[in-house]
Amino acid sequence: MSVALNTKHLSGFINEEEYAAIYPQVEAAHKQLEAKSGPGNDFLGWMYLPRDYDKEEFARIKAAAKKIREDSDVLVVAGIGGSYLGARAVVEAVKGQFHNELEDGPKIYFCGNSISPTYLNNIISLCKGKRFSINVISKSGTTTETSLAFRVLRELLEKEMGVEEANKRIYATTDRAKGTLKQLADAQGWPTFVVPDDVGGRYSVLSAVGLLPIAAAGISIDDLMKGAADSMERFSVLSKDNDAYKYAAIRNILYRKGKSVEILECYEPNFALMNEWYKQLFGESEGKDQKGLMPTSCIFSTDLHSMGQFLQDGARVMFETYVDIKNTRNDFYIEELEGNFDGLNFLANQNMSVVNRKAMEGTILAHTDGGVPLGLIEVDSLSAHDVGELIYFFWKACAISGYLLSVNPFDQPGVESYKKNMFALLGKPGYEDRKAELEAALKD
Ligand code: PA5
Repeated sequence: MSVALNTKHLSGFINEEEYAAIYPQVEAAHKQLEAKSGPGNDFLGWMYLPRDYDKEEFARIKAAAKKIREDSDVLVVAGIGGSYLGARAVVEAVKGQFHNELEDGPKIYFCGNSISPTYLNNIISLCKGKRFSINVISKSGTTTETSLAFRVLRELLEKEMGVEEANKRIYATTDRAKGTLKQLADAQGWPTFVVPDDVGGRYSVLSAVGLLPIAAAGISIDDLMKGAADSMERFSVLSKDNDAYKYAAIRNILYRKGKSVEILECYEPNFALMNEWYKQLFGESEGKDQKGLMPTSCIFSTDLHSMGQFLQDGARVMFETYVDIKNTRNDFYIEELEGNFDGLNFLANQNMSVVNRKAMEGTILAHTDGGVPLGLIEVDSLSAHDVGELIYFFWKACAISGYLLSVNPFDQPGVESYKKNMFALLGKPGYEDRKAELEAALKD
């Protein structure tokens, strides 16, 4: 059992009666999910994915990852949103932010996640002259950011290695049957992997979407799936002791009391992309119908030197959720310094993780004293197994939390608005009327 909720610092903010009052709603949300009778019920493929995943495809993913590790210096992963964040989050959590510099095997770079020409030019420079492969990931197969980056990188790959070799180095993860990318992949004979129909982007990291880049980074996807499966077992049980359900309940109790912002915080920089993944998961799932907690994040102690003042003394609109990683992968022993010139010998003769923990404990007490409700999600480590557990914990909590909020946690209609405007302003055929309207609105 690697993931657990610790509510001891919430006792001054939420009482037992409040938990009891919301529990029938948690029960109803659980039943809706299990019976597939709630909103978004055609996107519940993630619920038993750690058990029911496609074993044949899983073996093909491992084989493709092995080939990439053998024949590539670089793997460029093109994707955005749900087709990007989960893979990068797991790679950085498990292997560390400096995995490209410190680990053997191909360097993994992510692109297609912005429209920045500078970023794309940097990626091109990192690939030129190298043996590289591309994993293009897009469920729709038409996302502008991803398609544009892929167009450029494919051209580079074909130019550098020839079309025949390039076709063996492009891995397409997309819809099972439809979409431009699927058609292109079939026509060119690229190996393809599937984004399941009933799994939305933010719930897709344990499908081929995340698994291929994660495996290519040298992470055990068996361990990752095992962790998720262990979590699935625990957090599928309707019980007051189900920590994922309790976390969902806490979020909603606090939201109803006027706390409109949740800050996910961690004392490990390697967790930074997990924070981003969490923001997409909860932001896209709950931010609709003019409702929802706004998910934000911090990495501590870094952000205590920027956000610390606000958290201690600013408007009391938020609560904090700390991801408390119990075991550091790579500890550092602080030696005593002769002469104590820097005055830091009070930190010596112990591991640096102890100092980090004291900083966390001190901050918890300061922030709760400052009136910020604060819960802890305790995780044994950032191993592949434990990250798998954590992913499923958040998935389940998010689904229940969305139902408690009475929204459909599995759609994202709002994401389309910017795309329509962007297409119109860029003159995409079919958007002519909108273009004139928007250009008029942009005039001074
Ligand atoms: O959650 C979502 O649906 C989005 O974030 C998508 O994952 C993102 O827009 C990318 O879409 P696609 O995989 O179709 O390229």
